[in-house]
Amino acid sequence: MGALVADCALRIGLVGLGSVCAAVHYPGFSRIPGVEVGALCDTDGQLLDRRKAEWDIGVGFTHYRSFLRDSGVEAVAIATPNHLHRELILDALEAGCHVLCEKPLGMDHAETAMVYQAARHSGLRHMTAFTYRFVPGMNYLRHLVRTGELGELRHARFQRLQDWGENAIGWRQYRAKAGSGELGDMGIHRIDYAEDLLGPIRSVCSSLKRVVSRASSADGVSCPPQDVEDWVAWIAEFASGVTGVFEMGKLTKGHGPRGDHDLAELNGSRASAAYRLHTPHEILFGVRGEPYAPRPVPEEFLKRAGSPRDSASGDPQRSFRYDQAWEFVSAVREQRECHPSFYHGMRAQAVADAIAQADRERRWVDVAE
Ligand SMILES: NC(=O)c1ccc[n+]([C@@H]2O[C@H](COP(=O)([O-])OP(=O)(O)OC[C@H]3O[C@@H](n4cnc5c(N)ncnc54)[C@H](O)[C@@H]3O)[C@@H](O)[C@H]2O)c1
Repeated sequence: MGALVADCALRIGLVGLGSVCAAVHYPGFSRIPGVEVGALCDTDGQLLDRRKAEWDIGVGFTHYRSFLRDSGVEAVAIATPNHLHRELILDALEAGCHVLCEKPLGMDHAETAMVYQAARHSGLRHMTAFTYRFVPGMNYLRHLVRTGELGELRHARFQRLQDWGENAIGWRQYRAKAGSGELGDMGIHRIDYAEDLLGPIRSVCSSLKRVVSRASSADGVSCPPQDVEDWVAWIAEFASGVTGVFEMGKLTKGHGPRGDHDLAELNGSRASAAYRLHTPHEILFGVRGEPYAPRPVPEEFLKRAGSPRDSASGDPQRSFRYDQAWEFVSAVREQRECHPSFYHGMRAQAVADAIAQADRERRWVDVAE
């Protein structure tokens, strides 16, 4: 990698300027030397004007096609509601842009397979925003698995338990815009990092549950009730022979509002290890006969190689997310695949579809190849 390529300029546009764009994409891209956040796009004109002022960016569009035609950006980061991802990705590829897109990549496996194939044939870079792959504790867990320090992996558990309350949560509570509820919102990240750690999931059985109606906002304004699940659990058999137990829920009191319980715990023949989001710079490690003890994440795993962020500054539960933008930009500059790519977005969606089918049909379902 020559210095010239490493520093080369990249003009990126942000599409969908809501919560995740403000919390993750803008702060991630804006701190990378040589990257210019050159244009913004959101159908909400008031929000667009606010972001332009906040981030001191002069170029903004309320229509995506004008944005692609006139902004001159070389890459886009898409963070709109899920039902728009497919069309926006295909248009961006058609316009010759590298694409980072939020999860879930599409509404079902067929959509994600379509965008993956289009991206692959375009020769452009493509990345799915599976942000939790970048947590320092997760980087270290991956290293322990790959170096065999845990021994032969036997079983594992993955939990995302939060307390979102019972009010309406916008587009996320409608299948037509979100595709699914907790499964596509929180579950899909855990499918991705479980497969990253343990290899492909072969078969699943599951249960999905809609617990509350969410038929009014916090201000008491009525809206149609939700038609997706608040809670989902599944057992997964991995091709490696490992068994995983997963549980995700938005209504788990005791875990909010800043609780954000996120756990990946691996049990091997030599040792067990656990990543937890609320202590991202340490893992738990335990061998036979001893209780878990915290183990600091070594320096080399605190951030991605070359990442411009200072791993010692900022809120460690937030700042790791900026490494996602670094991975995307590095892949563009180095002309290599992104990790995770659209392939991983498609793969996780195949597992998510199997989980939904297993619940509908009350049986074990094999994941599509
Ligand atoms: N990776 C993560 O950790 C993570 C976290 C939160 C959300 N997400 C994902 O990010 C996406 C956005 O979620 P959010 O919470 O930021 O939602 P949000 O509702 O806060 O923001 C979405 C924005 O998209 C805009 N928008 C809608 N249609 C548009 C269009 N046609 N063109 C341009 N902009 C349009 C909306 O006006 C809104 O500002 C979702 O896919 C969600 O699943 C990922």
